[in-house]
Amino acid sequence: MAAAALLAAVLGGGLLLIARRYLTGAGRASRGAAAALMRGKTVIVTGANSGLGRATAAELLRMQARVIMGCRDRGRAEQAAREIRAELGAQAEGGELVIRELDLASLRSVRSFCQRVLQEEPRLDVLINNAGIFQCPYMKTEDGFEMQFGVNHLGHFLLTNLLLGLLKSSAPSRIVVVSSRLYKYGEINFEDLNSEISYNKSFGYSRSKLANILFTRELARRLEGTEVTVNVLHPGIVRTNLGRYINIPLLAKPLFNLVSWAFFKTPLEGAQTSIYLASSAEVEGVSGKYFGDCKEEELLPKAMDDLVARKLWDISEVMVGLLK
Ligand SMILES: NC(=O)c1ccc[n+]([C@@H]2O[C@H](COP(=O)([O-])OP(=O)(O)OC[C@H]3O[C@@H](n4cnc5c(N)ncnc54)[C@H](OP(=O)(O)O)[C@@H]3O)[C@@H](O)[C@H]2O)c1
Repeated sequence: MAAAALLAAVLGGGLLLIARRYLTGAGRASRGAAAALMRGKTVIVTGANSGLGRATAAELLRMQARVIMGCRDRGRAEQAAREIRAELGAQAEGGELVIRELDLASLRSVRSFCQRVLQEEPRLDVLINNAGIFQCPYMKTEDGFEMQFGVNHLGHFLLTNLLLGLLKSSAPSRIVVVSSRLYKYGEINFEDLNSEISYNKSFGYSRSKLANILFTRELARRLEGTEVTVNVLHPGIVRTNLGRYINIPLLAKPLFNLVSWAFFKTPLEGAQTSIYLASSAEVEGVSGKYFGDCKEEELLPKAMDDLVARKLWDISEVMVGLLK
């Protein structure tokens, strides 16, 4: 009986692992050539202390880049940096991890982060807009924006715009935007961008991720001829801290953990498309595209609506104070 149970567990575990490999389908950014391209390059990764951002920062450090971790909590960022250095050991040599405070829920913080980068950094080769917040209860940023729209879209909108001059003077350079497949359930409701009339946390997240894609496409149009490219990606479903606001009943937790272990990507697997878009020669000159598993994917028409993208850009400029 015990032997049968053990056999079933081993077989079951094996099948789960195979299913996981198959279902997560993690495309791999090939390391060798990309590593040579990244040596000595300066990269900013927002939200680099956790999940995908942490994995992305670690891989770029391994490629000997100078990685600026844009994080809102210095303590968490320092701990992540220590752990990354310890994990990589000698492989971290030649690269650099730098911590700079950046709270995307505060326009003041975004401005002071950028001011410091512009003062200190002679060049910026890659900006990775990775940080994100998912399905939080209704909250507002320091400047009064609904939190998911404020952090995922508006904070990164201001950040990118303030760093564009440096990216242009460092060209060829790249911007990588982390969105989500859940953009499909979002709409840009211009009448209530701050969700003051009604708030639905799932819709709010999807809307912010649709905004990431519209922003990328409009920015790509504006950057034509500059040798600064911008692309957007979805990472798949990844086991990270993103679900911190989701309440899973205590009894369902073990099942959730098993399912996520079996079927979700690891942060390193999930980060592959960010790393690919940041470092691969294959995407040199490619701009305004949407990627998953290191391959270009098609977008729904709602994410390719150029009029909505322009209107969102214009309104965002006013909201973040770039245009009065
Ligand atoms: N995990 C998935 O399955 C999945 C799927 C699709 C898309 N994504 C996207 O992937 C990106 C990375 O998320 P993740 O899964 O790696 O989640 P995560 O582990 O929760 O990491 C999110 C990062 O964003 C940072 N962040 C949150 N609010 C911020 C703020 N106001 N200012 C600066 N940084 C802030 C967090 O900092 P703290 O640690 O200080 O909170 C953390 O470093 C997000 O854009 C997310 O929407 C993830």
